[in-house]
Amino acid sequence: MTNISNQPIKKIAISTGGGDAPGLNAVIRAATLSALKHGWEVYGVRDGFHGLLLPEEYPDGGLVRLPRERVSGIAHLGGTILGTSNRNNPMRYPILKADGTIEEVDRTDEIVRAFRLHHIDALITVGGDGSLAIADVLYQKGLRLISVPKTIDNDLDKTDQTFGFDTAVGFATEALDRLHSTAASHGRVMVVEVMGRYAGWIALHSGVAGSAHAILIPEHPYDINKVVEKIKEREERGNNFTIVVVAEGATPRGGEVSVVEHEAGRAERLGGIGEKVAQQIHERSGKETRVVVLGHLLRGGSPTSFDRLTALRFGAAAVRGLAAGHSGVMVALDPPHVKYVPIPDAIGKMKKVPMTSDIVLTAQEMGITFG
Ligand code: F6P
Repeated sequence: MTNISNQPIKKIAISTGGGDAPGLNAVIRAATLSALKHGWEVYGVRDGFHGLLLPEEYPDGGLVRLPRERVSGIAHLGGTILGTSNRNNPMRYPILKADGTIEEVDRTDEIVRAFRLHHIDALITVGGDGSLAIADVLYQKGLRLISVPKTIDNDLDKTDQTFGFDTAVGFATEALDRLHSTAASHGRVMVVEVMGRYAGWIALHSGVAGSAHAILIPEHPYDINKVVEKIKEREERGNNFTIVVVAEGATPRGGEVSVVEHEAGRAERLGGIGEKVAQQIHERSGKETRVVVLGHLLRGGSPTSFDRLTALRFGAAAVRGLAAGHSGVMVALDPPHVKYVPIPDAIGKMKKVPMTSDIVLTAQEMGITFG
């Protein structure tokens, strides 16, 4: 939390990186309005750091001025007015070589140079673990910055919650509510795949709130026979339908995570586990089984009031922190407070569902199986 520059702040930039999450625009609004109140000029970087690395690709030069009017009426909007990217990580930027192979190069020095060129005194970077790792490097290289955590996955360790998660859980819960009536009418098994990467937070919270009968999460490799037993147990009680929620990162006992693709310069893309689970259930139980992949629907739409408020608090706290001389830190929720934690502490560890948690116990005590 050292003050690395004695220069007073006159101009700041905001960037949003990684997968979008409902609440990003609320961060931009609160940070911009708070910064303007300090008399600072505010700029937004296009598409993560892309706007600085390839300014010629943008009619506005990749850096857009954010006056008060530009952030008016955006707090309730999903997505990000600045654009984002979870490809082309500047720490391992993929370059296509003449022989057709891809070489990953570090372009973080170019970002630092671009900030100097544009006389930007401080940066607010909003993102998940990937963006935090980039922020840490930029801080080590001399940029004054504060990070704001974001992810629908809720897998960042040093904050109680990230904005976007509540909206995703709300949407998934509503989807489960809707699937109950159609599953019951047809006497089917419905398998619902939700995002969350290597953590089962979205699956767990929506599964319990949405009265699922089985919840499969990465923290507990599943045995498909347990799910089939659950289906049979329900049939014996006269319930001929079953709802199964599967986190995209769930794995069968002794098996592998289901990956859609590996691409240079970005994290592996998960998906497909819902289909596999459905097929196994059908083979073992003979039940008609359907799959619904909620996917990116979980990232869209307006943030809930909780996410909106958290995002606004984070945006204002980032500016408050910069004004107080903090740098190299991440804003974090520690109810009822917002605090600052060193970025390296925040990127060290992924927050996973503890299988001893109250919500897991609640599920088990209600008869929900984890497979
Ligand atoms: O981290 C957010 C997230 O939505 C994950 O839940 C998911 O695995 C990933 O991003 C999907 O990324 P993409 O936008 O590249 O499909």
